[in-house]
This record gives sequence, structure tokens and C-alpha cells, in this order.
Amino acid sequence: MSDIVVAVDGPAGSGKSSVSREAARRLGFAYLDTGAAYRALAWHCLDEGVDVEDATEVAERVAAFDYAIGMQPDHYFVRVGGEDITPDIREPRVTAVVSAVARVPEVRAGLTALFRRLIAEASEPGVIVEGRDITTVVAPDAAVRVLLTASPEARMARRSAELSAVSAEATAQQLASRDAQDSRVVDFMNAADGVTTLDSTDLDFEHTVQALIDIVRAGA
Ligand code: CDP
Ligand code: CDP
Repeated sequence: MSDIVVAVDGPAGSGKSSVSREAARRLGFAYLDTGAAYRALAWHCLDEGVDVEDATEVAERVAAFDYAIGMQPDHYFVRVGGEDITPDIREPRVTAVVSAVARVPEVRAGLTALFRRLIAEASEPGVIVEGRDITTVVAPDAAVRVLLTASPEARMARRSAELSAVSAEATAQQLASRDAQDSRVVDFMNAADGVTTLDSTDLDFEHTVQALIDIVRAGA
């Protein structure tokens, strides 16, 4: 088990994945992207023709979910049933249904148990785990807990820059709609007691990575 667990939550586009991964790389820590697991299950449901609005059907898929994720920041991959689906989980069709899959209680319970097992098995000196409910549900006892925020305008600008082919307006709408759906299930907009808020609105990527590393060094 890693000595230092760092929990990072935040809304879409706050920089959780990219910043956590780079901070983990520099610290020599493992890195766990929990959103990737929710996306992989959503991808699997689409692949199997499961009606994602049918909670019972989705819940049935969790027990036998054959999922593997790379936790080395430099060797990141996602596999389902042995098939590498790393790029596929970012497809818009997956993004469009992931919130429906993530709100099923059996999905949350099953994946939370999986994340705790992966955290316990990590052999690096520390692990950075990022998602929506890591500071509150998955690892509330983590040595370091951070809520990474950014203004809606900054988050939308970052996402639009990544998806240049898609109109800024469509990106903004999708982001707002997903955050609204996800917020009904877990609160990742307000820091829970003892959680440090890192506002990246006016920070570039490099300064955000540095700020997270400083928080880890101060808190661990
Ligand atoms: O990177 P982005 O913010 O777009 O999303 P993500 O971290 O890949 O998460 C994808 C989806 O998984 C979210 O929209 C949530 O529906 C769900 N999720 C969750 O419910 N709990 C987590 N700990 C992580 C992700
Ligand atoms: O995982 P999450 O949805 O929170 O965000 P991300 O996918 O890690 O970051 C979205 C984009 O914002 C990436 O291209 C980052 O490089 C960028 N970013 C930025 O421009 N400035 C920051 N301070 C943090 C991230």
C-alpha cells in the first residue's frame, strides 16, 4: 500500500487528469484516473448494446466488468476484456452517456470497491487519485485532499481548445449539462471539511502542477 494517498476532485475541465498525472510523474507516484473507469463501463455498455437508461441492465454489467487500468503516469492504458480502449473512452458518444451509467448506485459501489483495491495494491511511495468523489467517498482518510476548481469560462475555454472541431457553444452546453447531471449524485463543486481548494482559473498548466505538488509536500 502506498504511504501517501492524494485525493483530487473537481468538475470537468478543471485540469484534474492532466495536472494529477504530471504531478504524479514528477513525484514518482502512481496515478489513478477514476473517470476512466466510469467511461470504460459506459463504453462497454454501448459495445454490448445495453440500454444505458435502464439502471437494472447497467447494474448487471458491473459484477463481471473485466477492467484493467495502467497506474504508471508514463504508461497509461485502459482495457476492457483484454482490448485496449484508451482512445475510445474519450469519444463524444461515451461522454454523452457516462453520467447515466455513473448515477446507478451498484455502479458507484462496485467501482468504489475497485478503486480502494487498486489504491491498496499500488506499490509506489504515493498515489494520486482523481475524480468526483475521491475526497468524500473513495478515500476520505487520504493524507492530502484537494478540490481543483476553475471558473466555468476557463473550463470551457480549455475544453474548446482540445476539441477545436466542435463549436465552443456546443462544448459549453455539453460541459454544463454533464456537470449538472453529475452534481445531483456527488458534490464536487464545494470543498468538504478539511479539503484544500486549489483554484486554477488564473494559473497556467505548469503553475497548477507546481501548486498541487506544493500542497502534497506540505500535507504529506
Ligand atoms: O475528464 P472529465 O472531467 O471530462 O471526466 P472524467 O473525469 O473522465 O469523468 C467522466 C464521468 O465519470 C463524469 O462525468 C462522471 O459522470 C463520472 N465520474 C464519477 O461519477 N465519479 C468519479 N469519481 C469520476 C468520474
Ligand atoms: O480532467 P479534467 O476534465 O478536470 O481536465 P483535463 O482534461 O486534465 O484538462 C483540460 C485541459 O485544460 C487540458 O488540455 C489541460 O492541459 C488544460 N489546463 C490548462 O490549460 N490550464 C490549467 N491550469 C490546467 C489544465
